[in-house]
Amino acid sequence: MTDWQKLEKKYFMPTFKRMPVTLVKGKGVRVWDENGKEYLDFTAGWGVNSLGHCHPEVVSAIAEQAKSLLQTSNQFYTVPQLKLAELLIENSCFDRVFFCNSGAEANEGAVKLARRYGKLHLDGAYKVITALNSFHGRTLAMTAATGQRKFQEAYQPIPDGFVNVEYDNISAIKKAATSQTCAVMLEPIQGEGGVNIPSDSYLKAVRAWCDEKGILLILDEVQTGIGRIGTLFGYEQFNIEPDIITLAKGLGGGIPIGAFLAKEEVSVFTPGDHGSTFGGNPLACASGYATLNFIIENDIPGKVKKNGAYLIAQLNKLKSKHDFIVDVRGRGLLVAIQFDDDLTDKIVKSCMERGLLLNPVKPNAIRFMPPLTIVKKDIDAMIGILERVLAKV
Ligand SMILES: Cc1ncc(COP(=O)(O)O)c(C=O)c1O
Repeated sequence: MTDWQKLEKKYFMPTFKRMPVTLVKGKGVRVWDENGKEYLDFTAGWGVNSLGHCHPEVVSAIAEQAKSLLQTSNQFYTVPQLKLAELLIENSCFDRVFFCNSGAEANEGAVKLARRYGKLHLDGAYKVITALNSFHGRTLAMTAATGQRKFQEAYQPIPDGFVNVEYDNISAIKKAATSQTCAVMLEPIQGEGGVNIPSDSYLKAVRAWCDEKGILLILDEVQTGIGRIGTLFGYEQFNIEPDIITLAKGLGGGIPIGAFLAKEEVSVFTPGDHGSTFGGNPLACASGYATLNFIIENDIPGKVKKNGAYLIAQLNKLKSKHDFIVDVRGRGLLVAIQFDDDLTDKIVKSCMERGLLLNPVKPNAIRFMPPLTIVKKDIDAMIGILERVLAKV
């Protein structure tokens, strides 16, 4: 049998800390490795497989599209792109969309749009305030936007124009702002930062302050968007409307896609200001349309809310049995448990051996982000495995 993992060691730049599992098949919340071993997958491709692995409607949309048209460039109109644009705009508070290929690229585009707006309406203001502990992607500019030193240190000098301030602290934003500030960019809940939920008043206060100063509010919903936290978009739960939102991950149902959406008055790009070869390609948009349409038609966000509450309740039961679990937090199906020590690697490894895949988001925290279509039975199965592992810690 081919030792696939050996090939990685020989040929790849060693950027990923992979688990020793080679996956070959997926269906719903389950995946199988090359030896036929079955796993419950609570990572969902890092929050991407919103309808689970190989959902029939997504697979059939991709297959149909692949038979007719894969890529044309944006020199022409294509129907899947137009249909997805209409679905996104008609179900959100935004007026305009730009399609790209990933979360980092969506954020880059959003920041370019904010800078363009700053040039036109804010006397050339170009700086963007972001939060410490945030995550906005791995391009050079998004490394500067991401408020974590560990991602920035190796790449100095990082691009100018970003100020990282404490999350969930409106005073920190006010203090960091200058006449050069064009926007504030935040995650409604910090995902990679460990599932950090701000206080109820935070985003409302940021929105009010941005309005007062005439600067833009960008929400990075690459992780929280498309039903993940129990509403189609995260902003709905905080009773605000951002000026710009960025999406990726769950939007494509497993195919790479990104997008940023903006209000009409903020949509200041003109022909030639921005572009992408693959952005909005028919294959990704057909997959995105099938995914989003299924999510809307079947009230998946409502189910996420219910099942997310169930998941949190079950995790809290484990917390009451184990002193070393110090926190359970989350919204919808973006949930984390935190330990009093760096126990994550050990627990995640033991779970993997018992057929459960989890995401080690922090040395002392595990993140749960299963497919949005998960049912109670699967949550119970996951809790059963986790419980057996925790009993041995
Ligand atoms: C909130 C947020 N923004 C941006 C990104 C980057 O997305 P991508 O890896 O698709 O570039 C991520 C990825 O985890 C994310 O969670």
